[in-house]
Amino acid sequence: MRRKRPAAPLSTAPSPPAMRLLLRLRLPLLLLLLFLAVPLLILLSPLSRRPPHQPVVPCGAEPSDVTAGRWVPTPRPVPAPLYGASCPFHRGSYNCLRNGRPALSPLSWAPARCGGGAVVVPRIDAAGFLAAARGRRVGLVGDSLNENLAVALLCALHSADPAARRWKRRGAWRGGYFPTHDVTVAFHRAVLLAKHTWEPVEENSEEEPRQDGRKGIYRVDVDIPADEWINTTKFYDVLIFNTGHWWGTYKFPKETPLIFYRGGKPMEPPLSIPEGLKAVVRSMAAYIDREAPSNTLKLWRTQSPRHFHGGEWDHNGSCATGRLLREDELDSWFDPRLGGVNRDARTVNLAVEEALAGSGFRVVNLTYMSEFRADAHPAAWLGKEEGAVALHGQDCMHWCVPGVPDTWVDILAPQIISHFLNHRGND
Ligand SMILES: *[C@@H]1O[C@H](CO)[C@@H](O)[C@H](O)[C@H]1NC(C)=O
Ligand SMILES: *[C@@H]1O[C@H](CO)[C@@H](O)[C@H](O)[C@H]1NC(C)=O
Ligand SMILES: *[C@@H]1O[C@H](CO)[C@@H](O)[C@H](O)[C@H]1NC(C)=O
Repeated sequence: MRRKRPAAPLSTAPSPPAMRLLLRLRLPLLLLLLFLAVPLLILLSPLSRRPPHQPVVPCGAEPSDVTAGRWVPTPRPVPAPLYGASCPFHRGSYNCLRNGRPALSPLSWAPARCGGGAVVVPRIDAAGFLAAARGRRVGLVGDSLNENLAVALLCALHSADPAARRWKRRGAWRGGYFPTHDVTVAFHRAVLLAKHTWEPVEENSEEEPRQDGRKGIYRVDVDIPADEWINTTKFYDVLIFNTGHWWGTYKFPKETPLIFYRGGKPMEPPLSIPEGLKAVVRSMAAYIDREAPSNTLKLWRTQSPRHFHGGEWDHNGSCATGRLLREDELDSWFDPRLGGVNRDARTVNLAVEEALAGSGFRVVNLTYMSEFRADAHPAAWLGKEEGAVALHGQDCMHWCVPGVPDTWVDILAPQIISHFLNHRGND
């Protein structure tokens, strides 16, 4: 049966050729409209539901979020802490709550991009992290400041999987296994990252005692990773590296210096400590780029600063303060050109950053936000026997946990989660 044409008043009907043209154009026009409207709708709809200042990229997830911002009181209602003094992954000397230091006041990092203090980096979604990380492993390698970070991450994740247990294999110094989602997180202690060995001066009773007072050397093979992590590059899905405060003459004075080797031979001319640092970082990064599978997430976190006030660590330097530094004080505390006692973090970071240029590592700058936090070190609350402070000085280098390392975790966690979500079932 034929359909009847709708009757149209003759006077307004388009002429047959114009009609055909319109008919021909209608489909492409419709498609064009759809093509324009769909992305526009997608773009506009979340914005219209968002308060005006909240950014599209979550607060904390842009690289600039760590280098421009300030600490503000955690907005109310202050969420309950994820863990306290009884977390089973604590290291005693970072456990300030147990050691009697009054709890830090709840502060959050407010990146400038997120609206001038109104929006802060949210705490890690520990359950979401474990779910996204199902079957995966996260390895941290470096010195005790990466151990600080590892403890904060382990304790946060423990809040979402109380069945977690200690895990120390494959050279790990400290770690946890989270059975509910089959997730492993571990820290490998390798303070110089490269292999280093103590070689004492051979005493020969028939010879004169040595004139230079040398007791021996620390041989550093710049091209050989330390045993503690050399065979783990294929084991971990995420690697987080650091190195820093061991690259100084107070760890290795002239009686026991660092001597750098390559290809099994002493390097000629001999490298200074800063040159050695760059050589090691370059060759370790190249090793990881070569050895690790291409879908491994490679992060390098920068060194956090020390806050010794009134003297070096062995000259009664103190950080028993509740006061944060102001932005206009940072350079006078940390700028290497001013030669202060706390200059080493920025010095080391510059060398590390230079050495990593062109590597597969993403640098995560935790230094700037940490520079403000003179209030957040263990200071005199070391949890050791009486007299420890007189003997060893205050600890103005490591961080209380809970404390600033939680914010490092909050910055890193979304990057790790999004890596896992983008590399599902890829291995
Ligand atoms: C970290 O951020 C601060 C502040 O923007 C900057 O001065 C410093 O150079 C950065 N360091 C590294 C290693 O990226
Ligand atoms: C690393 O693996 C290699 C090759 O299997 C082995 O020869 C070496 O002994 C291992 N090193 C360590 C420190 O486990
Ligand atoms: C540290 O302070 C104590 C007590 O005031 C003093 O006896 C000692 O000499 C100081 N030590 C240094 C290295 O300045």
